[in-house]
Amino acid sequence: MAEIVIVADAEAAGDLAADAVLRRLSRATTPTWGVATGSTPLSTYRAIAARDHDLSGVRAFALDEYVGLPAGHPESYRAVLDRELVHPLGLNTEKVHVPDGSHEGLESAGERYEREIADAGGIEVQILGIGTDGHVGFNEPGSSLASRTRVKTLTEQTRQDNARFFDSPDDVPRHCVTQGLGTISRARHLILLAFGEGKAAAIAAAVEGPVTAAVPGSIIQLHPSVTVFVDEAAASRLAHADYYRHAYENKPRWQVL
Ligand code: F6R
Repeated sequence: MAEIVIVADAEAAGDLAADAVLRRLSRATTPTWGVATGSTPLSTYRAIAARDHDLSGVRAFALDEYVGLPAGHPESYRAVLDRELVHPLGLNTEKVHVPDGSHEGLESAGERYEREIADAGGIEVQILGIGTDGHVGFNEPGSSLASRTRVKTLTEQTRQDNARFFDSPDDVPRHCVTQGLGTISRARHLILLAFGEGKAAAIAAAVEGPVTAAVPGSIIQLHPSVTVFVDEAAASRLAHADYYRHAYENKPRWQVL
Protein backbone atom coordinates (compact mmCIF):
# COMPACT_ATOMS: atom_id res chain seq x y z
CA MET A 1 0.00 0.00 0.00
CA ALA A 2 1.15 3.53 -0.66
CA GLU A 3 2.07 5.51 2.41
CA ILE A 4 -0.56 8.25 2.80
CA VAL A 5 0.63 11.31 4.72
CA ILE A 6 -2.05 13.84 5.64
CA VAL A 7 -0.62 17.25 6.50
CA ALA A 8 -1.96 20.71 7.29
CA ASP A 9 -1.10 22.42 4.03
CA ALA A 10 0.98 22.47 0.87
CA GLU A 11 3.96 24.00 2.68
CA ALA A 12 4.12 21.13 5.18
CA ALA A 13 3.83 18.62 2.33
CA GLY A 14 6.52 20.45 0.37
CA ASP A 15 8.93 20.20 3.31
CA LEU A 16 8.41 16.46 3.69
CA ALA A 17 8.52 15.82 -0.05
CA ALA A 18 11.74 17.86 -0.30
CA ASP A 19 13.34 15.66 2.39
CA ALA A 20 12.27 12.53 0.53
CA VAL A 21 13.51 13.74 -2.86
CA LEU A 22 16.88 14.88 -1.54
CA ARG A 23 17.38 11.68 0.43
CA ARG A 24 16.62 9.56 -2.62
CA LEU A 25 18.80 11.61 -4.97
CA SER A 26 21.74 11.70 -2.60
CA ARG A 27 21.72 7.91 -2.22
CA ALA A 28 21.28 7.15 -5.91
CA THR A 29 24.26 6.09 -8.01
CA THR A 30 22.85 8.15 -10.88
CA PRO A 31 20.62 10.89 -9.48
CA THR A 32 17.65 11.08 -11.85
CA TRP A 33 14.56 13.04 -10.87
CA GLY A 34 11.16 12.94 -12.53
CA VAL A 35 9.56 16.36 -12.24
CA ALA A 36 6.02 17.63 -12.76
CA THR A 37 4.72 21.05 -13.72
CA GLY A 38 1.49 22.73 -12.59
CA SER A 39 0.75 24.30 -9.21
CA THR A 40 1.04 21.23 -7.02
CA PRO A 41 4.83 20.65 -6.92
CA LEU A 42 5.70 24.31 -6.31
CA SER A 43 5.88 24.08 -2.50
CA THR A 44 8.25 21.12 -2.87
CA TYR A 45 10.46 23.05 -5.29
CA ARG A 46 10.48 26.05 -2.95
CA ALA A 47 11.44 23.85 0.00
CA ILE A 48 14.27 22.27 -1.98
CA ALA A 49 15.51 25.67 -3.18
CA ALA A 50 15.60 26.89 0.42
CA ARG A 51 17.95 24.05 1.37
CA ASP A 52 20.64 25.21 -0.98
CA HIS A 53 21.77 21.74 -2.09
CA ASP A 54 24.08 21.35 -5.05
CA LEU A 55 21.77 19.79 -7.64
CA SER A 56 23.93 20.56 -10.67
CA GLY A 57 24.67 16.85 -11.13
CA VAL A 58 21.02 15.82 -11.12
CA ARG A 59 19.42 14.74 -14.38
CA ALA A 60 15.71 15.67 -14.52
CA PHE A 61 12.92 14.36 -16.72
CA ALA A 62 9.65 16.24 -17.22
CA LEU A 63 6.45 14.23 -17.29
CA ASP A 64 5.00 15.94 -20.29
CA GLU A 65 4.95 18.79 -22.80
CA TYR A 66 2.25 20.47 -24.87
CA VAL A 67 2.26 19.87 -28.59
CA GLY A 68 2.76 22.77 -30.94
CA LEU A 69 3.64 25.70 -28.66
CA PRO A 70 6.36 27.78 -30.28
CA ALA A 71 9.84 27.38 -28.76
CA GLY A 72 10.18 29.71 -25.78
CA HIS A 73 6.41 30.06 -25.26
CA PRO A 74 6.11 31.00 -21.57
CA GLU A 75 3.61 28.20 -20.89
CA SER A 76 5.53 25.46 -22.64
CA TYR A 77 6.63 23.07 -19.92
CA ARG A 78 10.25 23.59 -20.96
CA ALA A 79 9.87 27.31 -20.16
CA VAL A 80 7.86 26.66 -16.98
CA LEU A 81 10.52 24.27 -15.70
CA ASP A 82 13.30 26.73 -16.52
CA ARG A 83 11.48 29.38 -14.48
CA GLU A 84 10.24 27.33 -11.56
CA LEU A 85 12.85 24.64 -11.22
CA VAL A 86 16.07 25.01 -13.16
CA HIS A 87 16.99 28.54 -12.08
CA PRO A 88 15.73 28.54 -8.47
CA LEU A 89 17.19 25.11 -7.68
CA GLY A 90 20.41 25.46 -9.66
CA LEU A 91 19.83 22.51 -11.99
CA ASN A 92 21.89 22.26 -15.13
CA THR A 93 19.60 23.11 -18.10
CA GLU A 94 21.45 20.64 -20.27
CA LYS A 95 20.50 17.86 -17.89
CA VAL A 96 16.80 18.70 -17.94
CA HIS A 97 14.90 16.58 -20.45
CA VAL A 98 11.45 17.52 -21.73
CA PRO A 99 9.52 15.55 -24.35
CA ASP A 100 9.73 17.16 -27.78
CA GLY A 101 6.31 18.68 -28.48
CA SER A 102 7.24 20.28 -31.78
CA HIS A 103 5.21 19.16 -34.80
CA GLU A 104 8.32 18.01 -36.64
CA GLY A 105 9.30 14.54 -35.48
CA LEU A 106 6.22 14.10 -33.31
CA GLU A 107 5.86 10.49 -34.41
CA SER A 108 9.19 9.55 -32.86
CA ALA A 109 9.00 11.91 -29.84
CA GLY A 110 7.78 9.19 -27.47
CA GLU A 111 10.34 6.63 -28.49
CA ARG A 112 13.17 9.15 -28.28
CA TYR A 113 12.11 10.20 -24.80
CA GLU A 114 11.89 6.60 -23.59
CA ARG A 115 15.44 6.08 -24.83
CA GLU A 116 16.68 9.18 -22.99
CA ILE A 117 15.19 7.87 -19.74
CA ALA A 118 16.64 4.39 -20.28
CA ASP A 119 20.08 5.79 -21.17
CA ALA A 120 20.06 7.72 -17.89
CA GLY A 121 19.44 4.50 -15.96
CA GLY A 122 15.73 5.12 -15.29
CA ILE A 123 14.14 7.57 -12.87
CA GLU A 124 15.02 7.33 -9.19
CA VAL A 125 12.20 9.45 -7.77
CA GLN A 126 9.18 10.80 -9.62
CA ILE A 127 7.03 13.74 -8.48
CA LEU A 128 3.38 13.53 -9.54
CA GLY A 129 0.37 15.80 -9.30
CA ILE A 130 -3.10 14.54 -10.15
CA GLY A 131 -5.78 16.08 -12.35
CA THR A 132 -9.35 16.53 -11.16
CA ASP A 133 -10.22 13.74 -13.61
CA GLY A 134 -7.60 11.44 -12.09
CA HIS A 135 -4.91 11.91 -14.74
CA VAL A 136 -1.22 11.63 -13.89
CA GLY A 137 1.23 13.08 -16.34
CA PHE A 138 -1.25 13.80 -19.11
CA ASN A 139 -2.54 10.24 -19.15
CA GLU A 140 -6.22 10.97 -19.33
CA PRO A 141 -8.88 8.45 -18.19
CA GLY A 142 -8.77 5.40 -20.44
CA SER A 143 -4.98 5.46 -20.88
CA SER A 144 -3.41 2.02 -20.96
CA LEU A 145 -1.85 1.11 -17.64
CA ALA A 146 1.16 -0.15 -19.63
CA SER A 147 1.48 2.91 -21.88
CA ARG A 148 4.82 4.46 -22.81
CA THR A 149 5.63 8.06 -23.75
CA ARG A 150 3.39 9.12 -26.63
CA VAL A 151 1.06 11.80 -27.98
CA LYS A 152 -2.27 12.13 -26.17
CA THR A 153 -5.36 14.29 -26.66
CA LEU A 154 -6.21 16.39 -23.60
CA THR A 155 -9.74 16.20 -22.22
CA GLU A 156 -11.77 19.38 -22.26
CA GLN A 157 -11.74 19.20 -18.43
CA THR A 158 -7.94 19.34 -18.40
CA ARG A 159 -7.92 22.17 -20.94
CA GLN A 160 -10.33 24.14 -18.76
CA ASP A 161 -8.29 23.39 -15.62
CA ASN A 162 -5.15 24.67 -17.35
CA ALA A 163 -6.78 27.68 -19.01
CA ARG A 164 -5.71 29.77 -16.00
CA PHE A 165 -2.15 29.71 -17.32
CA PHE A 166 -3.08 31.04 -20.78
CA ASP A 167 -4.51 34.35 -22.04
CA SER A 168 -7.59 32.61 -23.36
CA PRO A 169 -9.03 29.08 -22.91
CA ASP A 170 -8.78 28.65 -26.69
CA ASP A 171 -5.00 28.99 -26.45
CA VAL A 172 -4.64 25.77 -24.42
CA PRO A 173 -3.21 23.13 -26.77
CA ARG A 174 -5.33 20.08 -27.54
CA HIS A 175 -2.46 17.59 -27.55
CA CYS A 176 0.56 16.73 -25.49
CA VAL A 177 3.44 14.28 -25.35
CA THR A 178 3.37 12.52 -22.00
CA GLN A 179 5.23 9.78 -20.22
CA GLY A 180 2.96 6.76 -20.18
CA LEU A 181 1.56 5.05 -17.11
CA GLY A 182 3.99 2.19 -17.73
CA THR A 183 6.84 4.69 -17.93
CA ILE A 184 5.84 6.37 -14.67
CA SER A 185 5.43 2.98 -13.00
CA ARG A 186 9.06 2.14 -13.68
CA ALA A 187 10.37 5.04 -11.58
CA ARG A 188 11.87 3.55 -8.42
CA HIS A 189 9.85 5.72 -6.05
CA LEU A 190 6.70 7.80 -6.65
CA ILE A 191 5.67 10.87 -4.69
CA LEU A 192 2.10 11.96 -5.41
CA LEU A 193 0.98 15.32 -4.06
CA ALA A 194 -2.52 16.83 -4.00
CA PHE A 195 -4.03 19.85 -2.31
CA GLY A 196 -7.52 21.28 -2.01
CA GLU A 197 -11.09 20.06 -2.10
CA GLY A 198 -11.03 19.92 -5.91
CA LYS A 199 -8.62 16.96 -5.75
CA ALA A 200 -10.47 15.00 -3.04
CA ALA A 201 -12.48 12.78 -5.39
CA ALA A 202 -9.47 12.02 -7.59
CA ILE A 203 -7.34 11.14 -4.55
CA ALA A 204 -10.00 8.87 -3.05
CA ALA A 205 -10.41 7.07 -6.38
CA ALA A 206 -6.65 6.74 -6.95
CA VAL A 207 -5.83 5.55 -3.42
CA GLU A 208 -8.89 3.50 -2.46
CA GLY A 209 -10.82 2.78 -5.63
CA PRO A 210 -10.25 -0.07 -8.05
CA VAL A 211 -7.11 -0.10 -10.18
CA THR A 212 -8.50 0.99 -13.50
CA ALA A 213 -7.56 2.87 -16.64
CA ALA A 214 -10.59 5.05 -15.86
CA VAL A 215 -8.54 6.53 -12.98
CA PRO A 216 -4.95 6.71 -14.23
CA GLY A 217 -3.70 7.75 -10.78
CA SER A 218 -4.77 4.33 -9.47
CA ILE A 219 -1.50 2.90 -10.91
CA ILE A 220 0.06 3.90 -7.60
CA GLN A 221 -1.63 0.84 -6.10
CA LEU A 222 0.48 -1.44 -8.28
CA HIS A 223 3.78 0.24 -7.38
CA PRO A 224 5.87 -1.08 -4.51
CA SER A 225 7.19 2.28 -3.30
CA VAL A 226 4.84 5.27 -3.18
CA THR A 227 4.25 8.20 -0.83
CA VAL A 228 1.14 10.35 -1.15
CA PHE A 229 1.21 13.77 0.53
CA VAL A 230 -2.21 15.41 0.83
CA ASP A 231 -3.67 18.29 2.80
CA GLU A 232 -6.84 17.83 4.86
CA ALA A 233 -9.08 19.02 2.04
CA ALA A 234 -7.64 16.62 -0.54
CA ALA A 235 -7.85 13.83 2.07
CA SER A 236 -11.46 14.61 2.94
CA ARG A 237 -12.97 11.75 0.93
CA LEU A 238 -10.55 9.04 2.05
CA ALA A 239 -12.48 6.32 3.88
CA HIS A 240 -9.42 5.19 5.84
CA ALA A 241 -7.92 8.58 6.71
CA ASP A 242 -7.80 7.72 10.42
CA TYR A 243 -5.77 4.61 9.72
CA TYR A 244 -3.33 6.54 7.51
CA ARG A 245 -2.82 9.08 10.30
CA HIS A 246 -2.35 6.28 12.83
CA ALA A 247 0.15 4.46 10.61
CA TYR A 248 2.16 7.65 10.03
CA GLU A 249 2.18 8.59 13.73
CA ASN A 250 3.46 5.11 14.55
CA LYS A 251 5.91 4.85 11.68
CA PRO A 252 8.99 2.93 12.77
CA ARG A 253 12.20 4.99 12.62
CA TRP A 254 13.83 2.40 10.34
CA GLN A 255 11.10 2.80 7.79
CA VAL A 256 12.32 6.04 6.20
CA LEU A 257 12.15 6.36 2.45
C1 F6R B 1 1.99 18.27 -15.00
C2 F6R B 1 1.18 17.07 -15.05
C3 F6R B 1 -0.22 17.03 -14.58
C4 F6R B 1 -0.48 17.86 -13.32
C5 F6R B 1 -1.96 17.83 -12.98
C6 F6R B 1 -2.27 18.68 -11.77
O1 F6R B 1 3.29 18.01 -15.50
O2 F6R B 1 1.66 16.10 -15.52
O3 F6R B 1 -0.59 15.70 -14.33
O4 F6R B 1 0.28 17.35 -12.27
O5 F6R B 1 -2.69 18.30 -14.07
O6 F6R B 1 -2.05 20.02 -12.08
P1 F6R B 1 -1.98 21.12 -10.94
O7 F6R B 1 -0.80 20.77 -10.09
O8 F6R B 1 -1.76 22.42 -11.63
O9 F6R B 1 -3.26 21.02 -10.19
